[in-house]
Amino acid sequence: MQVSKFQADLFLRDCWQKKPLLIRNPWATWSNPLEPDELAGLACEEGVESRLITQAHGALALEHGPFAETRFGDLGGSPWTLLVQAVDHHVPEVSALLESFRFIPNWRIDDVMVSYAVDNAGVGAHFDQYDVFLIQGLGKRRWQVGAPCDERTELLPHEDLRLLANFEPTQEWILEPGDILYVPPGIPHNGIAIGDDCMTYSIGFRAPSHDELVVQWSEHILDRADRDHHYTDPALALQDNPGEITAEALDGLHAMITEKLQDREEFARWFGQYNSIPKNADIDWAPEVPIDAADLRALVSAPVSLIRNPASRFSFIRESAGAVMLFVDGHSYACADECALFAERLCASDDTSIGLKEMESQSTVAVIVALINLGSVEIANED
Ligand code: SIN
Ligand code: CO
Repeated sequence: MQVSKFQADLFLRDCWQKKPLLIRNPWATWSNPLEPDELAGLACEEGVESRLITQAHGALALEHGPFAETRFGDLGGSPWTLLVQAVDHHVPEVSALLESFRFIPNWRIDDVMVSYAVDNAGVGAHFDQYDVFLIQGLGKRRWQVGAPCDERTELLPHEDLRLLANFEPTQEWILEPGDILYVPPGIPHNGIAIGDDCMTYSIGFRAPSHDELVVQWSEHILDRADRDHHYTDPALALQDNPGEITAEALDGLHAMITEKLQDREEFARWFGQYNSIPKNADIDWAPEVPIDAADLRALVSAPVSLIRNPASRFSFIRESAGAVMLFVDGHSYACADECALFAERLCASDDTSIGLKEMESQSTVAVIVALINLGSVEIANED
């Protein structure tokens, strides 16, 4: 995106998680990164999550993929929408769209969903729990947004789709190729295709729920805890009433469960690792034969590009001066000095140049070898 047409700092201040924003074609040149036929092809593949929403006599129905190739020819004249999840993991040109949204941290990015709709089709008025940038890829779509919803908002009695019982648009726009609509969580939206061949790219974000964090973090604590650690009271004082659970006893019991839960350092490491667990672990770039440090050094006798698997997740936390903890695909790597500089560069860009300088650092070499063998990165082909 052209920064002159889209200022990330102002967007974060005024709109992110606050209000919808229409961004009229901010790209230097916009070209639709995926053909409708290629999207339909992906929806026929095992291991790709896809949904088809059809509309007969006004009622929406949902089917899950993978679909038979003949399915899209059978749909007749009534409106339908095909939705394919995590297309960025499969198609590098779609993954490249994410580079324009890196003003939001990696750990908040989920995936790119792509939809294809015929004239007058849409998935119905709904709200999502997450932020989304809706990029119009091909054709036109009318988008309407309404006043914020919450858990009390009435939904239609539909088994599979969480559609609003009452939707009153407060704003609407017609999006053309390259236009982007940002919609914060909880803001209801309704998109209806104007004409056939309407494609929308949803840059989706994620944010852990309170319940998810409590459950996962507690499980981690339990895994590490000494399960036979019991309450002790060597300073037990004589009580007036044996029936009382005293404040001192309660303090000791409460400390037993809060001390470990409050370990901020352990939490940071756990969260980084947990958050980087990939969604699509089967998009595996691991070499058939694992490489070692000598193999890597032989491959990097001159600068080469290290490219990230689009299905992999990369982030880091700062620890002591000059040291970071790198998290990739559910693994963590302690990196200091040269290795920390490399880890930061790797997290900042999907294409990192490495050369003799990186090969001089044993720890950097070890991290790169581990990441290549896990299929999280690979050395770009020269052609
Ligand atoms: C669509 O692309 O049709 C739906 C996207 C959304 O509402 O989040
Ligand atoms: Co939505």
